[in-house]
Amino acid sequence: MAHPPKLLVVTFGCQMNKLDSEVVAACLLEAGYAPTESPREADVILVNTCSVRQHAEDKAWSLLGSLRRRKQERPELVIGVIGCMAQKERERIQERMPHVDLVCGPMELDRLAELVEEVRARRERVLAVGEGHVGRAPRVVSRRPNRFQAFVAIMRGCDNYCAYCVVPYVRGREESRPPDEIVAEVQALVADGVREVTLLGQNVNSYGRTLGDGTSLVTLLRRLDAIEGLVRLRFVTSHPKDATDELFRAMAELPSVCPHLHLPAQSGSNRVLRDMNRRYTREHYLERIARLRELVPGVEVASDFIVGFPGETDAEFEETADLVRQVEFQNCFIFKYSPRAGTRAAELPDDVPWRVKQERNRRLLAIQEAIMRRRNAAMVGRTVEVLVEGASHRDPAHLTGRTSANHIVVFPGDPALAGQISPVRLVASTPLTLFGTLVQGGASRG
Ligand code: 5AD
Ligand code: SF4
Repeated sequence: MAHPPKLLVVTFGCQMNKLDSEVVAACLLEAGYAPTESPREADVILVNTCSVRQHAEDKAWSLLGSLRRRKQERPELVIGVIGCMAQKERERIQERMPHVDLVCGPMELDRLAELVEEVRARRERVLAVGEGHVGRAPRVVSRRPNRFQAFVAIMRGCDNYCAYCVVPYVRGREESRPPDEIVAEVQALVADGVREVTLLGQNVNSYGRTLGDGTSLVTLLRRLDAIEGLVRLRFVTSHPKDATDELFRAMAELPSVCPHLHLPAQSGSNRVLRDMNRRYTREHYLERIARLRELVPGVEVASDFIVGFPGETDAEFEETADLVRQVEFQNCFIFKYSPRAGTRAAELPDDVPWRVKQERNRRLLAIQEAIMRRRNAAMVGRTVEVLVEGASHRDPAHLTGRTSANHIVVFPGDPALAGQISPVRLVASTPLTLFGTLVQGGASRG
């Protein structure tokens, strides 16, 4: 072949999906493909999809619809749908999208390069979706948004079966990677210049359980913390029923582990939590937050909430609003409930009207925004240590970075500081961003 075939991967969804896209791209580049950003140039277009909410699926359907034309113009173009929606909607994709050549679920991605070759060689449609219980051993690949930050999957799948959630059905049962493999991978990343590692899993608190040898998230954090040169260690996502004092103590003790916890509450109503199958109460959640704050000084907490879960009354929503006011999260992600076929909640009537979900969403956001505005304003005047990520998208004369507690900080500076930890004095704030100036002469730890 005169020119290597060109590959475009489009990604929807969570960090785990972004990581999968990089894994897939790495495999295909190794097999001789060249990357492209342009759909016009691409010989293979892979759409990595998300199923967590209907909205994410709608975006993928619309992109796939728009690729039909391109395929008519260039029949040799290979179009693949991969990821969560490929697993969940395989039949509908095959029926409704005849121009799609390849459908591959998240549990079969290690075969993808082979499958793409099969389509190219035989010009036949290929379907590869797992049965939901044979998760493939995760591969040793990490995602690097830049030279000094990396995302590393430590487990895959999920066994929690929250009533609203499609993840156990599309990503399969929970499976942990052996700790030796993760430690070796992080060592290699750090040797290659990585300073901040974020460990990924659907419920990282149960990491190690499937290994049956005493390995836990805490034992893994201890081993990773010992790696010389690793400055910051984060992990997402945690489950309130499994967030233990032992974990909080490790967060406080281990210097590289950041004082930041994403601990989705989902609701402040015990009736809703029970029907969500979350297996904790509002009181337990509040007790966990109090304990975390007691054990980990300066810790910041982020959360997810679903509004309009089946049967959610005004009074139950008020309990959620009250919890948000009480906890004062650093950040909240708020979602309108959307029924996912096959889940337990999908059997309940989706009886909260759309405009009520919309209104509750808006109200929760407004409450949280006021909290963030006040809490960020209270930080002005302090000096914080920022891991510089690079030039700000909004203004290339400014740098953007994060504190270890995950505050976003923007300040004027030289892009050469990227990857360094710099002291910044905070001078202004908005609900989402802190603004500052570099502390001159302050030793920037390189
Ligand atoms: N509807 C709305 N939000 C959902 N989430 C998960 N499933 C659904 C659903 N069916 C939200 C949860 C989860 C986040 C990733 O997405 O809040 O924490
Ligand atoms: Fe990620 Fe869940 Fe969406 Fe799959 S369904 S991409 S695991 S958020």
